[in-house]
Amino acid sequence: MTLTRTLLASLASAALSLAGSSALAQTPAKLKVGLMLPFTGTFAALGTAIENGFRLHVAENGGKLAGREIEFVKVDDESDPAKATDNVNKLIKRDNVDVLIGTVHSGVAMAMAKVAKDSGTLLIVPNAGADAVTGPMCASHIFRSSFSNWQPGYAMGEVMAKKGHKKVVTITWKYAAGDESVRGFKEAFEKGGGKVVKELSLPFPNVEFQSLLTEIAATKPDAVYTFFAGGGAVKLVKDYAAAGLKKNIPLYGAGFLTDGTLEAQGADAEGLMTTLHYADSLGTPRDNSFRLAYAKTFKMQPDVYAVQGYDAAQMLSIGLNAVKGDVSRKAEFADALHKARIDSPRGAFTISRSNNPVQDIYLRQVSGKENKLVGIASKALADPGRGCRL
Ligand code: BEZ
Repeated sequence: MTLTRTLLASLASAALSLAGSSALAQTPAKLKVGLMLPFTGTFAALGTAIENGFRLHVAENGGKLAGREIEFVKVDDESDPAKATDNVNKLIKRDNVDVLIGTVHSGVAMAMAKVAKDSGTLLIVPNAGADAVTGPMCASHIFRSSFSNWQPGYAMGEVMAKKGHKKVVTITWKYAAGDESVRGFKEAFEKGGGKVVKELSLPFPNVEFQSLLTEIAATKPDAVYTFFAGGGAVKLVKDYAAAGLKKNIPLYGAGFLTDGTLEAQGADAEGLMTTLHYADSLGTPRDNSFRLAYAKTFKMQPDVYAVQGYDAAQMLSIGLNAVKGDVSRKAEFADALHKARIDSPRGAFTISRSNNPVQDIYLRQVSGKENKLVGIASKALADPGRGCRL
């Protein structure tokens, strides 16, 4: 009798533990996503828009990607390259994240890419255009949902050469993004017959433009090409107009000059022409539904940064679905992305061999509070991926 009771008890406990383990097997562990973005400083609004966009896609999927619930671990990288390696190491070693999403600033992104490459951690860059990330530093598990700095610059070089401008001055922040944007611009502009006669810059994130604007006035170029973003873009556009330059020397830029900034720039931005992989008035059903959902959720209009965050989540989702949520299957994850057409609000795009978007670059013009679509400046533009060996 005692033996029967013992036997029954152990059978019952075995059944319970079996049931428990099958329940566990059906509930995959949460996917830890390390969001390393600027939440303070001149790029703070850009970091928030990226996070919003990412969360919107996750929410549209019921809070899960490839069946795994998402747990976010956030770090404010302050757009400070000096703190970047420590910040990313904390996410990997202390927080054990499965995937890194970040960041905005090219200098910080290069430090992230180095650590991600050395540690084999999956990284999706939702903004920073540092050419090196999908160039010499490229890796099969490092992707970008945004652009390379070369892309909008190159497209604007073609536009301005076709407009017949011959003599151009450039002005930007002296760091990878500014330098590479100007280099892309110069490559196309000089190929098209123009000449960059002066390259002006100031250290990031300085915004004391006065002496540089005086130099532009003295040089009297046909036009100016610029790369600035966030708070710096707001100040440049306002100072350029206040210096009386806007009416005589047209200002053009990579589209970050006027994206997410128009409320603050007001009439000083009116009429400015820029090139970017997004515009406010695309009018496609895909973009309209994205814009509606974003505005409803966050009570603000989306911008290019929101789109890039949303698409980082879409790319993660595509890769994860292919590997059934197992981030260690990196080759299959990459393969899925190389075969995909990402159904972005910007228009569908593909991923190059060096893991950068191949995408249309639009010419836009500011009208009121919108970057209105003028046309396609460069169709399916692929970054050359110079130095990438994959
Ligand atoms: C960059 O550092 O790569 C960057 C920052 C803001 C907007 C665009 C690019």
